[in-house]
Amino acid sequence: VQPKLSGVDKEAPKSEVDDGKTKVTVFFGTQTGTAEGFAKALVNEAKVRYEKAKFEVVDLDDYAADDDEYEENLKKEQLALFCLATYGDGEPTDNAARFYKWLSEIQDKGEWLQNLRYGVFGLGNRQYEHFNKTAKVTDETLAEQGAKRIVSTGLGDDDKCIEDDFNAWKELVWPELDKLLGYEDGKTASTTYAATILEYRVVIHDPANVPCEDKISHDANGHAIVDAQHPRRSNVAVRRELHTPASDRSCTHLEFDISGTGLGYETGDHVGVYCENLSETVEEALGLLGLSPDTYFSIHTTEEDGTPLEGSLPPPFPPCTLRTALAQYADLLSSPKKSALLALAACASDPSEADRLKHLASPAGKDEYAEWVTASQRSLLEVMASFPSAKPSLGVLFAVIAPRLQPRYYSISSSPRMAPSRIHVTCALVYDKMPTGRIHKGVASTWIKNSVPLEESENCSWAPIFVRQSNFRLPADSKVPIIMIGPGTGLAPFRGFLQERLALKQDGLELGPSVLFFGCRNSKMDFIYEDELNHFVNSGALSELVVAFSRHGPNKEYVQHKMMEKASDLWNMLSQGAYIYVCGDAKGMAKDVHRTLHTIAQEQGSLEGSKAESFVKDLQVTGRYLRDVW
Ligand code: 2AM
Repeated sequence: VQPKLSGVDKEAPKSEVDDGKTKVTVFFGTQTGTAEGFAKALVNEAKVRYEKAKFEVVDLDDYAADDDEYEENLKKEQLALFCLATYGDGEPTDNAARFYKWLSEIQDKGEWLQNLRYGVFGLGNRQYEHFNKTAKVTDETLAEQGAKRIVSTGLGDDDKCIEDDFNAWKELVWPELDKLLGYEDGKTASTTYAATILEYRVVIHDPANVPCEDKISHDANGHAIVDAQHPRRSNVAVRRELHTPASDRSCTHLEFDISGTGLGYETGDHVGVYCENLSETVEEALGLLGLSPDTYFSIHTTEEDGTPLEGSLPPPFPPCTLRTALAQYADLLSSPKKSALLALAACASDPSEADRLKHLASPAGKDEYAEWVTASQRSLLEVMASFPSAKPSLGVLFAVIAPRLQPRYYSISSSPRMAPSRIHVTCALVYDKMPTGRIHKGVASTWIKNSVPLEESENCSWAPIFVRQSNFRLPADSKVPIIMIGPGTGLAPFRGFLQERLALKQDGLELGPSVLFFGCRNSKMDFIYEDELNHFVNSGALSELVVAFSRHGPNKEYVQHKMMEKASDLWNMLSQGAYIYVCGDAKGMAKDVHRTLHTIAQEQGSLEGSKAESFVKDLQVTGRYLRDVW
């Protein structure tokens, strides 16, 4: 029997049914897996609550092959929920990029989505300028196209506790689904739902009999696939320190050799790097787990007979030793989520530890979690050390407690015109004292700093890497003026731009004027690539180099101060159609530079408040103001 869809317009077509069940689609746009995890958790719970409905989790990339298909498929949906993360400069995640582009460019077609009921939960961070932009734009556009919002958009804030935000939003969703799915009589299974602890099936192998896998995948045309799931092993060819010994910080110049890997890139692209945890971190984890590092195991999402396990587990990794799994696949230094605390509680043999863990994960322990876990940036390993009786099995550890170690992204600091077989990376070392006293050594930046280049040893370091396209591109016409702003490692893509311009010039092309605003603390410590930058000026690839030193004299000088000094030149360049590029820290620098741009438009262009704003907006919309920020 088809359940009643109360509250739905009479003229609404019958919902898509399967076995007489109403279909609810839960879409996700995920980068590191959090949004995907939320979507799956929502569906796991919903399945228990609403047996009469059919819930499906859908990756937005897999939903449609092209724009027409997005339109056709979405038109058929009647109930859809979206979990959408926002990244960098208000951008969607890679897997939501096509959907988002299609959605944002929909022409006015009337209320063609009037049969769709929807809700959106956004994953963002309030510290950033475009807080939850992807979720907000999706919500607004769906509403404009006639779809009916069933619940206000959840604005998850990763700066606080995004799990709490999600749970609060879920509580708003259930009553609406009760109505729409015909459960108004209060007979949902809500009271009986308790999240089960998910777990892989684990098989321990005899290392001698483990089949060797061919990790290279090919597409239908036989071309090797390279993406985040199919990275390529690349040797470290060159590594050198960019700071002088006078600096108390470190920044590494690294070159990956990509010859023969099938990898290629364009100036302005990003490289994703899978690094390993430091051996000291792995040793600490092994000690806490009390398991042998040589245990050779595989994880499975099905029962032995092939039936899928309950719940949705993250994709498994290939069979390996525990030491390898901890080094390559486990994020051990981020703070554990509340769901991880609950899983630890379930395996704690000491009841007082279990109670304390459950309390921290409960609504009553909200403030303590915020203080003890979030604010003190307590790592998973530190938490596990505080609860020694909680010894998770491998199946639970890798399913819910330790998330997958994520690739780190860097703006490539070379141009393929100068370095066709190399990908250059410019990486500042992360080395911070945490509130608990722990020294946090950034996983990737420490690996990069300690890597052994081929120059030094045949036995050089290597990492699985892949290239991610970006929209940070030089103007197609080399005569168009460009303004580049990149303090610190924000310089990276501009080194690539300048290499490209030098190559163009050597090919006989005419170059438009260019100015680079670079910022560092002190000319004697962290003026990275100084000689190269001067060479770009001397060779005509760069018209002007402007450097702001923040710790030279008594006053801090930042790139935006230098921009104000050059306001009239910048205004002239912009009036001649210049492109303006900003790269670096999103929370501080990019915001301040953005404001400065407004001020310049106001003062130099004599544009009043709103006109200056639309001037800057117009630069953005027409693709002349591009930001690569993090
Ligand atoms: P500081 O460390 O002395 O504060 C590269 O990191 C450079 O960017 C440093 O000189 C740093 O200065 C500077 N910087 C820090 N915050 C900034 C901001 N909000 N805007 C521009 N530059 C900034």
